[in-house]
Amino acid sequence: MRSVIDILDLSTDELEALTDTALDIIAHPERYARACEGKKLATLFFEPSTRTRLSFEAAMYELGGHVLGFSEAASSSASKGESVADTARIVSCYADIIAMRHPREGAALAAARHASVPVINGGDGGHCHPTQTLADLLTIRREKGRFDHLTIGLCGDLKYGRTVHSLINAMSRYEGTRFVLISPEELRVPDYVRQTLESKGVPYEQTADLDGAMPELDILYMTRIQRERFSDPAVYERLKDSYILTPDKLDGAKGDMAVLHPLPRVNEISVAVDADPRAAYFRQALNGKYMRMALILKLLDEAKNPAPAPEEGLIYGKYRCSNPRCITAVEQEPEQIFRLTGGVCRCAYCESPVRI
Ligand code: CP
Repeated sequence: MRSVIDILDLSTDELEALTDTALDIIAHPERYARACEGKKLATLFFEPSTRTRLSFEAAMYELGGHVLGFSEAASSSASKGESVADTARIVSCYADIIAMRHPREGAALAAARHASVPVINGGDGGHCHPTQTLADLLTIRREKGRFDHLTIGLCGDLKYGRTVHSLINAMSRYEGTRFVLISPEELRVPDYVRQTLESKGVPYEQTADLDGAMPELDILYMTRIQRERFSDPAVYERLKDSYILTPDKLDGAKGDMAVLHPLPRVNEISVAVDADPRAAYFRQALNGKYMRMALILKLLDEAKNPAPAPEEGLIYGKYRCSNPRCITAVEQEPEQIFRLTGGVCRCAYCESPVRI
């Protein structure tokens, strides 16, 4: 059964086909209004969300389908101790497709391995957020007209920012991509992300200086410093205002630079920036609905002739993941699975390297 847990589960051709479908939906919504008649989407949100959950639900309604689900763990049997694996098995009896968000890294993969319907990862802790990347890609296509030869500044929490990790994976595939990674020292991208860039030969630089980087950027992708990811509140307090984008900072930017943000924002983009035509973040949130429509259509279509999930290169049970944020740290059923990538053995759920 095909699920989408990581943006790399979709090929470059598939990403471009999804953006084509989304553009066709925008141009001809009436052609899609009954495409999912009789189908049900379950939205399983164990962590708060506005855009992801509601845009998935709006997407299914606009395709003529139905929606069921929950918006917090407290209103599900997770509050009684039910595992992600069992939840996925049960919901597969009630729905044709699942979109889920969970605070634990790897939770969506754990669900997908036990569901009998497609699972879409709506965010798993600080790990991945592939459908946000779909929204980002459609926004880049509509704002810039291309995916290649772009200098992309990623600014803020690059350590726990799952949207950043997924966007780096997606845009690394295009010729001429260059990243400027702008963050405080403590919030730099994890090693596995940097190693991915290096293994693919994608140029990048790390800096703490947003103003210095601004003139060269085609896209500035701002992110929130996420209070909920810090175990020490004092560190959050020290870092939370590291970057605040204001209209005067944009004076140093290209006239056609696009400002993206997955949202929600706290104060890292001043509301005064909203009136600038380069501010694309509200258009980006709308694009998310169209891309989620395209993805639901694709996965439901493929589920008519399900293929087994690829298993090659997986190592079962030989090691233990030591990441305390991984789903395997708290649930028994996700069996320990590892994958050798770039000479490093990593947990298949959270991508943390294994200490052998
Ligand atoms: N961008 C995003 O994931 O927003 P929500 O947390 O509101 O879903």
